[in-house]
Amino acid sequence: MTNKTSLDKLLKPKSVAVVGASSQPGKIGYTVIENLIKGGYQGKIYPINPTATEILGLPVYASISDVPESVDLAVITVPVKFVAGVVEECGKKGIKALSVITSGFSEVGRHDLEEEMLSIAHRYGMCILGPNIVGTLSNSDKLNASFAPFLPFPGKATLITQSGALLIAMDAITYTRKVGFDKMISIGNMADVDFADLITWLDQDENTACICLYIEGLKDGRKFIEACRSTSKPVIALKAGVSAHGAAAAASHTGSLAGAVKVYGAAFQQAGVVQASDLNNLFDRTLALSLQPPLQDENLLVITNGGGVGVLATDAAEKYGIPLHFAPPDVQEELKKHMPEFGSAKNPVDLTGMAGNDWYYQSIKFAYAHPWTDGLVVLYCETAMTNPLEIAQAIKKAVDETHIHNRPVVVSMVGGTRCDQAMQWLVENGIPAYPAPDQAMNAMAALREYYNIRAMNGDSNNGCQPHSSEVAREIIAKARADGRLALTEIEAKKVFAAYGLPVTEINLAHSEEEAVALAYQTGFPIVMKVVSHNIIHKSDAGGVKVNIKDEAGVRAAYNTIMQNCRAYKPEADIRGIAVQEMAPLGTEVIVGSINDPTFGPTIMFGLGGIFVEVLKDVTFRVAPVNSAQVMQMINEIRSVAILAGARGEAPRDRQALAELLCQYANMVYDLRDEIAETDANPILVYEEGKGVKAVDARIILKRK
Ligand code: ACO
Repeated sequence: MTNKTSLDKLLKPKSVAVVGASSQPGKIGYTVIENLIKGGYQGKIYPINPTATEILGLPVYASISDVPESVDLAVITVPVKFVAGVVEECGKKGIKALSVITSGFSEVGRHDLEEEMLSIAHRYGMCILGPNIVGTLSNSDKLNASFAPFLPFPGKATLITQSGALLIAMDAITYTRKVGFDKMISIGNMADVDFADLITWLDQDENTACICLYIEGLKDGRKFIEACRSTSKPVIALKAGVSAHGAAAAASHTGSLAGAVKVYGAAFQQAGVVQASDLNNLFDRTLALSLQPPLQDENLLVITNGGGVGVLATDAAEKYGIPLHFAPPDVQEELKKHMPEFGSAKNPVDLTGMAGNDWYYQSIKFAYAHPWTDGLVVLYCETAMTNPLEIAQAIKKAVDETHIHNRPVVVSMVGGTRCDQAMQWLVENGIPAYPAPDQAMNAMAALREYYNIRAMNGDSNNGCQPHSSEVAREIIAKARADGRLALTEIEAKKVFAAYGLPVTEINLAHSEEEAVALAYQTGFPIVMKVVSHNIIHKSDAGGVKVNIKDEAGVRAAYNTIMQNCRAYKPEADIRGIAVQEMAPLGTEVIVGSINDPTFGPTIMFGLGGIFVEVLKDVTFRVAPVNSAQVMQMINEIRSVAILAGARGEAPRDRQALAELLCQYANMVYDLRDEIAETDANPILVYEEGKGVKAVDARIILKRK
């Protein structure tokens, strides 16, 4: 049971009992006691063991109930078969937080043991971290309640990881990379305490400036999104295990295109979570996010003493989508005072290889303080005439003297061990520094992404008003009463229309005469399609006729479709023939939805035809969405230029498309208990001001 009090006791305990403590070196129960002592923990440590009397100089209690004082946290290191009994004893003792290191639960299929443990814990109002974890580490509390060998290199980030082994590896890497962490938390099977609980708690933790996540899979995606959106601190995530996700039993086009990378990527965007592509990238970005403010606008100035590293930084800036604008002329004029004739005040600003401490100091102090500048990347190539540490000190002094705190600065020092030492000094003094310009630019890109995604998500529900429809629910109820999970196209379009989505007019004809009457009612030209839940691929069955221009055409099409379909599938239950308005040609897009196992209703958008079939150029968002998010969906597909009006064509009505995406997301969210998957393929997008129209609709219901 997680609440603020139990999490306080878990993460900032005043006393720790280790149940399963051992006097045998090499055992986990011994290592945890040793780590608590070595780490310098100031609270009380109570080793619990049925036979031992003393472990590493500490008195041992045979049972947790024998401890005379109250205990905040119990770390459990007994074999799995004893865990339930120990949890019961801890509950009776009044302990509120358990860290269960023991393995052998749901990760090996023993969900029963995990549930048993959890129900005991809940009975006593205890929270459980784990099971199957390494434990928790905290520099600010000098608490190493784990079997990781040492506390991490100190800093302001906090790691939450689903992989215990990775925690131990990352713990060691913090020293080689000099990326500092305050806390490291192994979350394991997440039987109880999950990412969202910890993120919410860390939001209030004065020692955490950046929350760094290693995620294999979330249990409750929406709770995670909410927690990330609510925190005022940057969250960065490395998502592993992206191969087969959700796509297995897809009944819709959209379902077959959904994958973990895309759906998690969309959720991270909406949660305001910056992503890392690999472990190195995670360290680089975490360092920047834990030390520097976000990059709030586009004017990023690069200052260098070497043309080569400047070019590398320029290439990297382009790779990460950061423009390098030239500073205004007056800024350039001032910068020229701190470089030789052959220097350059453009961007990158090249102070040349002659640059010493003072040129760095003067140019940085001026440029960083200038209102034009939003952020600074400082590059340095090791030279014989300069001392890297002095350059680092000049950079820091210049930045500090401006008293500006809302503009990021990152540094890259390219060279040998002298540069390494200078960079370590910079990091210890709050300025992220990297051995390669690409890494520095990537760090700056993380600070920019952080700002941009937060700004986009701030736009709450603007433009996408929630809406509910009883008509839609009645249509769905009728289909269920018929024993069907697939709605007919006519039913699906009625549902779409009930949520304000523009659809082509469509009606069902049960006879040739009715088809003629409906054709006159709709207006020529029309399309006719067979309606039968036994015939999924209507065109293959010869069940579709388009561009019918008159009554004779309607009669001919009616009879031909009937004959074709009876020949194609004699046993098919043909409900009639749909008479549909023939929409004028437009740019084809596909919109659809899935009910993702982790995030629930999630919409997809892409261009139709070859773009979706071959290039799979689609993008996802968890429903509901706001108008900024749908605009970003439209703008982030690779083929967006076609909608913007490529090759002399008029721009398409992206505003109407954005409104449709908002309504579509609202529809699948409102009907989340009913709908499994949907496709609107194609939707035709017309010229600006002329709107959009869904010409096909497919809704598959959830099995209940
Ligand atoms: N109360 C107190 N102590 C008890 C109790 C009890 N009810 N029952 C047993 N103990 C004591 C034992 O007597 C023993 O102490 P001893 O050395 O003095 O005899 C101690 O608890 C440990 O019990 P063992 O039977 O020796 O178990 P062992 O130490 O070999 O293993 C462990 C226990 C570590 C919990 C093991 O079952 C396990 O789960 N290992 C995996 C843990 C893990 O890797 N977790 C992280 C996964 S992530 C990653 O891969 C890094």
